[in-house]
Amino acid sequence: MSFNTFGHVFRFTTWGESHGPAIGAVVDGCPPGIPLTEADIQPWLDQRRPGTSRFTTQRQEPDQVRILSGVFEGRTTGTPISLMIENVDQRSKDYSEVAKAYRPGHADYAYDAKYGFRDYRGGGRSSARETASRVAAGAVARLVVSEVTITAWVEAIGGDAIDPANFDVDEIGRNPFFCPDAVAAARWETLVDAARKSGSSLGAVVACAATGVPAGWGAPLYAKLDAELAAACMGINAVKGVEIGDGFAAATLRGEDNADPMRPGVDGPEFLANHAGGIAGGIATGQPVTLRVAFKPTSSILTPVATIAPDGAATEIATKGRHDPCVGIRGVPVVAAMVALVLADQKLLHRAQCGTTIG
Ligand SMILES: Cc1cc2nc3c(=O)[nH]c(=O)nc-3n(C[C@H](O)[C@H](O)[C@H](O)COP(=O)(O)O)c2cc1C
Repeated sequence: MSFNTFGHVFRFTTWGESHGPAIGAVVDGCPPGIPLTEADIQPWLDQRRPGTSRFTTQRQEPDQVRILSGVFEGRTTGTPISLMIENVDQRSKDYSEVAKAYRPGHADYAYDAKYGFRDYRGGGRSSARETASRVAAGAVARLVVSEVTITAWVEAIGGDAIDPANFDVDEIGRNPFFCPDAVAAARWETLVDAARKSGSSLGAVVACAATGVPAGWGAPLYAKLDAELAAACMGINAVKGVEIGDGFAAATLRGEDNADPMRPGVDGPEFLANHAGGIAGGIATGQPVTLRVAFKPTSSILTPVATIAPDGAATEIATKGRHDPCVGIRGVPVVAAMVALVLADQKLLHRAQCGTTIG
């Protein structure tokens, strides 16, 4: 009943806190025989690692992953895969003010209300340090769905969006924002710098596309592929919205404009549009699976905000310590990991019921 586990067949459980000795994940249900080493996981963790640019938190964590179990002679054995990442750069004194007052927008008050006792150092379990464990588990999931290509990027920061005409997938890895539009990335340097220097923070929209998902993955009704993706991404820290395909914009369209017309193709049906984001009836259609994720602005800011102390007294808090000025940036590898984890689970579910991994 404590909800640290996600998935049905391909399941993972995360553990650990921001300022404990280590964090990690246990991946269970992974098929045996898949070649897996730490080198398969590390590049994805390096994408999420803090301290890589002035646009992210300056906490210096190497985020080196160790595989403790579930792999023998370089291949998965089918037993639980335990992944561990040590915390090496904790500065608990930075968080003394968080012990004395709740950060509005963060989980401090809610954790106290529920548990009556909280590890306030760096936010404890509510810190997005936890998302490193998801990225490590996601790296294993990617090997299970090697037929799928998952690409994620930042589409907007602080309401300033990319120009789709400038979209260049190779640009995503060239700037510190995971931005596919070089012109927007240049603007965002000024935007994020200004927010950080003024003691404020910005929200962001992260987009993700998974290509190569075979028609047929997913499930009707109670484990719809869109519902699973939404749950996976809503479960990421600071996420306040998820859209599949056109999402809320679909509600403004007429039926004929929102339909994804079909025609016969060489390898099965061809679709002339993808408003549905590659999912119909909870099941993949074979089109790219597309989604958008809304990240709120970082709650821990230097600008003072009215709040209360744990004894109920009125006060205000200006959060020092090291924080991301825009959490959506480092949210990109986390979104991609969660999509991989859902797809791996759905692939194995499809095989369990239908006896095949393709539709
Ligand atoms: C990659 C990443 C980094 C984050 N870094 C911070 C941070 O430095 N400071 C902060 O206040 N919140 C940060 N957050 C968000 C908090 O973890 C989150 O707001 C908090 O746990 C409350 O949960 P909620 O926003 O989902 O309600 C981060 C989120 C992500 C995804």
